[in-house]
Amino acid sequence: MFMEKRFYLETFGCQMNVVDSERIVDLLRKSGYRQVDDSADADLILLNTCSVRDKAERKVYGHLGRYKPLKDANPALILGVGGCVAQQEGERLLEKLPYLDLVFGTHNVHKLPELVKKVEGQRERCLETDFLDKETRLQLFPQRTEGDSVTRFVTVMQGCDNFCSYCIVPHVRGREISRPSGEVLDEVRELAAVGAKEVTLIGQNVNSYGCKEPGELSFAQLLRQVHAIEGIERIRFTTSHPKDLSDDLIDCFGELEKLCKHLHLPVQSGSNRILELMARGYTRDSYLEKVRRLKNVCPDIRLTSDIIVGFPGESEEDFAETLSLMAEVKYLDVYSFIYSPRPGTKAAEMIDDLPAAQRQARFDRLLALQEEHSQQFREAEIGKVLQVLVEGQSRQGEGQLSGRTTWNRIINFDGDTDLIGKIIPVRIVKAFRNSHLGTLINQ
Ligand code: SAH
Ligand code: SF4
Ligand code: F3S
Repeated sequence: MFMEKRFYLETFGCQMNVVDSERIVDLLRKSGYRQVDDSADADLILLNTCSVRDKAERKVYGHLGRYKPLKDANPALILGVGGCVAQQEGERLLEKLPYLDLVFGTHNVHKLPELVKKVEGQRERCLETDFLDKETRLQLFPQRTEGDSVTRFVTVMQGCDNFCSYCIVPHVRGREISRPSGEVLDEVRELAAVGAKEVTLIGQNVNSYGCKEPGELSFAQLLRQVHAIEGIERIRFTTSHPKDLSDDLIDCFGELEKLCKHLHLPVQSGSNRILELMARGYTRDSYLEKVRRLKNVCPDIRLTSDIIVGFPGESEEDFAETLSLMAEVKYLDVYSFIYSPRPGTKAAEMIDDLPAAQRQARFDRLLALQEEHSQQFREAEIGKVLQVLVEGQSRQGEGQLSGRTTWNRIINFDGDTDLIGKIIPVRIVKAFRNSHLGTLINQ
């Protein structure tokens, strides 16, 4: 009897992996596999991995270890690793983990069905981590028009050429390529036609979109064209690199009504000395100048940031500069990370003698300061009436809907499901750490 084969997929890391995982699901479905929610039911278990910090990488080994007993019990089970750890470790993963069958890199997602067949048929362990040339990558650029959610991600570029000294991403994702603007715009139009109201344009550094393609639109020009597409009511983009945030792009925040008033603009450090060691390509002052311009053209704009604590050689004075920059900008939220040396990066070779306890203490001070700022934002919201794009039913309970403000804050409130997809006014009544509770305003 024909038995449908089942796969289980776990995804770690950033939006790039989320997009690749959608592709994996699609490809495996087309080759006769059905997705299941429990790894114990699967004939194929795949992990799409992240290696941006050591902790993320160790998590992968932890998870794989947990699947070993399943493999022991069922030798026909196929266990595979894709994504950034696969790209970084390649052959070493197969050497370290004798029960692993398959390793596929960040440029090889399209080969997955073929590789799985090979493992199935010949019980041969497979490794595929070659980077592809630009032409092939452009042809394989993910198209994502299935599904019906209100908010959608559209990939506009892949890879990164910035080589910030601490970062593994350029090593595991390869060179930066921009997808032709015609394709991006077609995809947004198709998404609008199936009911999408908000699109987020994504890439590791969307601000440099098109720069290396003669005749291509700049990112600001692309935004203006997306803005003109009927049906799309909100636009976001991520991630921005401060060095490539042009005046033209800043002006978009004053000009384009549909562009949400939130920008994730990772600063990483407030110290010029550390920024230089990080090879970030901007100074504290030039960053702050861009923030001033943003607030000038769009007084309501709110910023979020990534900050690395304890970069090699970070002194108490350097760290104090980071805290003072935070006080000056007043971020809505900061994603902070303790520095983690990554193999093959420049920073991994720098003298790094900061005691772990000191790193942790700085990290805790940074969190405490940010919590003060975040709390001020959260509490200032209470009593306000905000425009919320309703995305769907909330996870909290029956009859409750969930949506976001222009600042990307989650608002839960009671309401009818026919509001899904609409932008409506909601009065904010209570603040929680990760969301607000609101009540519907009768229009
Ligand atoms: N392309 C994006 C995101 C890169 S990874 C950008 O340029 O902002 C997300 C965040 O992880 C980075 O912004 C950085 O703060 C953090 N990060 C990257 N490498 C790291 C490392 N080696 N140690 C600690 N944090 C790191
Ligand atoms: Fe990493 Fe820098 Fe590229 Fe971001 S811009 S992905 S931090 S190298
Ligand atoms: Fe992680 Fe790879 Fe993204 S390292 S952050 S999943 S590009």
